[in-house]
Amino acid sequence: MSVAESGPSGLKLVGSFLKDANARFAAWFNRVTPKGLYPRSLIIIVTPMVILQSVVAFVFMERHYNTVTRRLSAAVSQDISAVVSLYDLLPRDNDFSALRRIAWRNLQLNVTVLPPAPLPPPGPKPFFSVIDSALSREIGRRVKEPFWIDTVGRSNLIEVRVKMDDAVLRIFAPRNAAYASNSHIFILWMVGTSLVLLTVAILFLRNQIRPIENLADAAEAFGKGRDVENFRPRGAREVRRAAVAFLEMKRRIERQIEQRTTMLAGVSHDMRTILTRFKLELAFLGDGAETEALKKDVDELQGMLEAYLAFARGDPGEQAALTDMGELIEDLRLNAERDGATAEASFMGPPLVEVKGDQLKRCIGNLVNNAVRHARRVAISGTRDARWLIVTVDDDGPGIPEEKREEVFRPFLRLDDARNQDAGGSGLGLSIARDIARAHGGDVILSDSPMGGLRASVRVPV
Ligand SMILES: Nc1ncnc2c1ncn2[C@@H]1O[C@H](COP(=O)(O)OP(=O)(O)OP(=O)(O)O)[C@@H](O)[C@H]1O
Ligand SMILES: [Mg+2]
Repeated sequence: MSVAESGPSGLKLVGSFLKDANARFAAWFNRVTPKGLYPRSLIIIVTPMVILQSVVAFVFMERHYNTVTRRLSAAVSQDISAVVSLYDLLPRDNDFSALRRIAWRNLQLNVTVLPPAPLPPPGPKPFFSVIDSALSREIGRRVKEPFWIDTVGRSNLIEVRVKMDDAVLRIFAPRNAAYASNSHIFILWMVGTSLVLLTVAILFLRNQIRPIENLADAAEAFGKGRDVENFRPRGAREVRRAAVAFLEMKRRIERQIEQRTTMLAGVSHDMRTILTRFKLELAFLGDGAETEALKKDVDELQGMLEAYLAFARGDPGEQAALTDMGELIEDLRLNAERDGATAEASFMGPPLVEVKGDQLKRCIGNLVNNAVRHARRVAISGTRDARWLIVTVDDDGPGIPEEKREEVFRPFLRLDDARNQDAGGSGLGLSIARDIARAHGGDVILSDSPMGGLRASVRVPV
């Protein structure tokens, strides 16, 4: 029973472990690879090139270079063994000039006969040298006497000493006779051509990627409510399609906003005409308790309509410009003080931000007005970092219960409706504030303030 149960659950365990490992690997891979499209595409081009060249270079070194070196070493060692045999044949009383001449003329070997002496100790083996091991092996195979070789000491000569019974033969052979010396040319060609390839790839890629970057910039600017200046679809077909679709979408959104504005303005305007007529008729009715109430209602309706019109007018096409946020916040603080509240203001970070200044002032101003209306103490604080501009307005008033914090953003919604219609506004302040923040690509968020009341934060990307 327990075995039957442990089987599938064990499998499940392994499965979940593998899944976990896979996710962790993906996260790590994502972290270490560059984020930009440009470096990523370069990697896609460079990696196969490097792998291909490494494989080719390895195979070439391993097969061709080794074989050639071995053959050449064999030839040199044959020559040396011929010199050794010749020395053995020669009578001992001559000066070996014939041997040296033959070796030099016919074999390109420089031979000296030295008096007998022990061979020097073996020198350090050069790291990564095929010639040393190949030559040692080949000479060892053909010459029976003890020998010593040095392939490092002199740059273009190889020195071999062979210990004979009554002498030591010192033989110099040209280094390039013993190994394939021109293989570096192959490497040079390989690196050279890949550099040319890489340059071409970089130039081409830059041209391909710039339209994508432009599209991203344009979309970002539009999201922040900034003007998208001289953006044209360019580049590859797919990129151009995306750019055309973006422009189409942008036009549609702008048309929609415009339509909304005109429609609301139209409705408000028509109603205002009727309201004026209404007021006139009321004036004719004369004074009385009922007409008094009616007049008040009409006034209220008119006030709401004015606010509605202002709301509908919305974005009057202000352009984003560098705005000093420190100054803006200080202005709002002075206004709040003038309205009878105790207000403080602070700003941290570089104060110049590219936003629609009047709009943003209206947005934060609405929040400050709310705080002044509901509380006695107000604190406005702004911070700005590389990505965000955040302005928070704190107060010590009654605050807004958590479940109502979304609701209050609805136009014309007021929580203290019944209590003081006269003292209150039209319930549009927060809607307008959020509208403006969203047009900048940000938002307005309500939360609890450490001062005890409401904290309203405006956050816009910079
Ligand atoms: N700081 C605050 N403290 C407590 N309640 C608040 C605060 N700010 C807003 N509210 C509540 O949210 C409601 C909606 O606010 P909103 O600014 O949208 O409208 P309003 O202030 O009533 O009118 P308007 O801003 O158009 O003059 C307010 O009626 C009020 O009840
Ligand atoms: Mg308000």
